[in-house]
Amino acid sequence: MRVAFVGKGGSGKTTLSSLFARYAAHIGTVVAIDADINQHLGLVLGAATTPRPLGGMIGEIKEYLRGDNPRIRDAASMVKTTPPGRGSRLIRLDDPFFPSVRVEGVALMVTGPFEEEDLGVACYHSKVGAVELYLNHVVDDQGEYVVADMTAGADSFASGLFTRFDVTFLVAEPTRQGVSVYRQYRDHAADFGVALAVVGNKVQDRRDVDFLREHVGDDLLTWFGHSPAVRALEQGRPFTLDDLSGDDHDALAMLLKRVDVQPKDWQRFGAQAAEFHLRNARAWADRATGEDLSTQIDPEFVYGPAATNPA
Ligand SMILES: Nc1ncnc2c1ncn2[C@@H]1O[C@H](COP(=O)(O)OP(=O)(O)O)[C@@H](O)[C@H]1O
Ligand SMILES: [Mg+2]
Repeated sequence: MRVAFVGKGGSGKTTLSSLFARYAAHIGTVVAIDADINQHLGLVLGAATTPRPLGGMIGEIKEYLRGDNPRIRDAASMVKTTPPGRGSRLIRLDDPFFPSVRVEGVALMVTGPFEEEDLGVACYHSKVGAVELYLNHVVDDQGEYVVADMTAGADSFASGLFTRFDVTFLVAEPTRQGVSVYRQYRDHAADFGVALAVVGNKVQDRRDVDFLREHVGDDLLTWFGHSPAVRALEQGRPFTLDDLSGDDHDALAMLLKRVDVQPKDWQRFGAQAAEFHLRNARAWADRATGEDLSTQIDPEFVYGPAATNPA
C-alpha cells in the first residue's frame, strides 16, 4: 500500500511520516521516501547516513524500469508519467536498484533537495519525477507500505502524482493556515477518487479538535497531540514509539488501520496512469521529446500482482 503525507510546511508531515513508518515497520515491510522540499525525514528517523538521492538518477531509473518494453524507444523518450507496459520492469517495493539506508526497520530513500523551479508542470527533470516513476512500477501488496513525505501542491496535481497513492493523509494544524490546503486537496481528490483523510497535529485541547471538525468535517480521521516526546526527538534525544502518549499511539494504530482497510484498486491506478500520461504528453512532453508519447500506452498491459516479473 502506498501512503502519502501532505500538508503545509511545518504542519508535521515529516514527523508523522517517520512515526508512521516506524510503527508500520513492526507489522510489515516499509519503504519511506523523503520527497519534501526540505529533506528532514532521515534526520527525524535517526539515519546516520543519507542514501544516494533518486533525483540525480532519473536517467538510470528510466533505463532500468523500461526494461525491454518496445513502446519506449530509449530512456530519453521516457518521461515521468510514462506508464509500464509489457516488457517493462515491474518491481517490488524494496528493489535494491533504488538506493536506501536502513533505519528503525525502515528502508529510507530520498529524492534530494529541490528548488521551487523543480515544481512546475513543464519541468522535465523534476526530482519528484523519480518517485513517480518508482510508484508507477512498484507492485505492492497488503502488509507492504511505501510511505512518502511529500510537498503538497502544484507538481503532484499537475502530473497525477497524487493519484499514485492508496491513501493520502493531509496533516493539518488546528489553525486557519493549517486547514487552508484542505479544500484544494479535497477537490482534486474528489475529482479523481483519491482516498483522503485529514490528520490533525499539535492538537492541545478539545477546542482544537472542534476547530478541525468544523473545517474538515468527517474527513478528520484522527489527531496527534502536541507531544513532548516528539520535541525530544527533534532535539536529538533518544526516542522510541513507547515514549508517545497512549492517545498518540492510538492515532498511529488508526492510521495503519485506515491504510489496511483501503481496497487496492489496480484498475483505477492503471486508468489514471494512462490518463495523466496523455495529459502530460499533450501539455509538454510530446514537444520536449519530439515524439507522440500516446503510443507508449500499452492497451494490453494490466497492473497488479500478475504483472510482477518473476525474480
Ligand atoms: N505532534 C507534535 N508535537 C510536537 N512537535 C511537533 C509535532 N509534530 C511536529 N512537531 C514539530 O513541528 C516542527 C515541524 O514539523 P515537521 O514534521 O518538520 O513539519 P513538515 O514536514 O510538515 O514541514 C518540527 O519542529 C517538529 O518537531
Ligand atoms: Mg518536512
